[in-house]
Amino acid sequence: MDKIIVKGGQTLEGKIKISGAKNASLPLLCCPLLTNDKVTFTNVPELGDIRNINLLLECLGVEVTQLDSAKNAGNLGHAFSFETKEDKHNAPYELVSKMRASILVLGPLLARIGQARVSLPGGCAIGARPVDLHIKSMEALGAEIELDNGYLIAKAPNGLKGNKITFPFPSVGATENAIMAATLAEGETIINNAAQEPEIIDLGNCLVSMGAKIKGIGTSKITINGVKKLHGCEHRVLSDRIETGTYAIAAAITGGEILLENTSYGLLESTFETLKKCNIDIIQTDEGLLVSGRKKLIAQNIITEPQPGFPTDMQAQYMALMLKVNGVATIKEQIFENRFMHVPEFVRMGANISLLGNTAIVTGGVQLKGAKVMATDLRASVSLVLAGLIADGETIVTDVHHLDRGYANLEDRLSSCGAIIKRVKDTCQK
Ligand code: EPZ
Repeated sequence: MDKIIVKGGQTLEGKIKISGAKNASLPLLCCPLLTNDKVTFTNVPELGDIRNINLLLECLGVEVTQLDSAKNAGNLGHAFSFETKEDKHNAPYELVSKMRASILVLGPLLARIGQARVSLPGGCAIGARPVDLHIKSMEALGAEIELDNGYLIAKAPNGLKGNKITFPFPSVGATENAIMAATLAEGETIINNAAQEPEIIDLGNCLVSMGAKIKGIGTSKITINGVKKLHGCEHRVLSDRIETGTYAIAAAITGGEILLENTSYGLLESTFETLKKCNIDIIQTDEGLLVSGRKKLIAQNIITEPQPGFPTDMQAQYMALMLKVNGVATIKEQIFENRFMHVPEFVRMGANISLLGNTAIVTGGVQLKGAKVMATDLRASVSLVLAGLIADGETIVTDVHHLDRGYANLEDRLSSCGAIIKRVKDTCQK
């Protein structure tokens, strides 16, 4: 497995083009299962997760065609067309276990062909990641679901029927599955306590352009009136707000200034409001977001929450930033039960962090020392690279396949702004 070696001490300055959003792409790429017409997406990021969901869609009878040459990945993202040619409904463990978001094929398959056999995705490093809310929302729409040998066997022989769904927690994935399923259900569906992330809005906009009847997208109450059929469309994937926030922190943590292109302040408002309280300048220009960390940073406490709160996917990166700041910051993780695996790795670099349940107390301002550290999940991986940017000497981040799931060309983008960073094949690691 590859590893990334970063030498600390450089101030980053330059421009970085932000890619299409991984967490918008994954539900969007399930929409072609809702129609037999061709659906085209542009600005699709070059990521491991995209390759995985495309393999899964092909398994489900969808013809996936890349419309651009690979060279576009760094700038304009990829363009793909999807056309469901056969009605297949088996999502195998080998593919689903590689990427949890595969569960998002459940709703579309039930909605259009009335059946699905989807492997349970299993947990991951950050938590058990149950799918009970996905199952309950499908059952509320009339599906019969049983568990057999680790597979969800779902049937809706008479089609789905609109209903009221109230989530105890605004689950992003369960909201996405419920919206997609309800677009072809008979009658009206009302989703209460729906997730409000920008990726949900992007999904809703795409479905409406396919002919779906949806109101309240982006609010906690979404109303969907089912239609008989959906048609094809062309949709450009939303810019990646977590990638935006990650590179903003790369600028701030090194005391530099980076222009983030193809993105906007509104995508990550709560995070940027916090970063501004940390004394980081973030200015929306015509070309994108200018982020500058040249002033003395101030520690701020955060609590991760569903949208519009501080996103859990920015928690590890923010913790890396607090390592730089002279002061104490508390970071409370409320979304996932095990999302502090970057902490022991930071401590190995000399960081002073103590954990009290789901709260990390970070005493920053300690000079970090480069070390060999292990990536455990996507956002923890990139936070180790961020810490490596300010550590003395070299930091070696292993297991970077986690990182490749969510960040395209990370080392090229950071080195274009002056970072001393390279990727090497990890020959010794089996
Ligand atoms: C999405 O995951 C994102 N993934 C995650 O990003 C993100 O961290 C998460 O939303 C929260 O914002 C994609 O969009 C592909 P949830 P999802 O359902 O949909 C519990 C990244 O780094 N829950 O909102 O799985 C769950 O265990 C990834 O890009 C249930 O209990 O998140 C968790 O504690 C990581 N039952 C909480 O809700 C369910 O049926 C939030 O989960 C579903 C979820």
